[in-house]
Amino acid sequence: MKKFVGKNIHKTAIFISGKGTNLLSLIKFSNTKSSPITIEAIISDKSKAKGLNLAKKYNIKKFVINFKKRSLAERKILSFLNKSQINLVCLAGFMRILSKNFIKNYKGKILNIHPSLLPKYKGLNTHERVIKNKEKYSGCTVHFVNSKLDSGKIILQKKVKITKKDNPKTLSKKILKQEHILYPRAIKKLFF
Ligand code: GRF
Repeated sequence: MKKFVGKNIHKTAIFISGKGTNLLSLIKFSNTKSSPITIEAIISDKSKAKGLNLAKKYNIKKFVINFKKRSLAERKILSFLNKSQINLVCLAGFMRILSKNFIKNYKGKILNIHPSLLPKYKGLNTHERVIKNKEKYSGCTVHFVNSKLDSGKIILQKKVKITKKDNPKTLSKKILKQEHILYPRAIKKLFF
């Protein structure tokens, strides 16, 4: 697979499992004049993911895949991505771990957003753990995906201050708002 090339438009697939608020921010970004990406497909492991509603609204192809057998699911996705000539994958609240083989096929072309200041607080329940540890700051990170969970090269981060009044829910809300700004900025950083 070729490396990213400067000012080309990158055909992008967004992977989701849930609400899709980051997906929405990426769709809006892709519709701006100078966007380096077009969103060609929304891929989900959950047929009921709320974010899938955005496919119809914005006229984007959707592809729901049962992940009970991961290798089969990934083979189907890879074939779909190839056919659609996708050259960028953005994970946005996608709750599955992709295999080494899948990642190898899209090496350096899969991004993820994680709601913590990586390398701290990899994995699930970040906000709960951050509050429990009485951290003063948390935030969000956009990074490349490699074969280790939440461990690929960091592209951009945004720090968020935690107040004494914060709980996991309020913190999650504050950080999510920043995620919506950070993901498009990280993509711009890669391509401009
Ligand atoms: C975000 O907090 C993202 O960082 C994490 O999952 C959440 C997805 O939210 N990986 P949404 O579906 O984009 O609203």
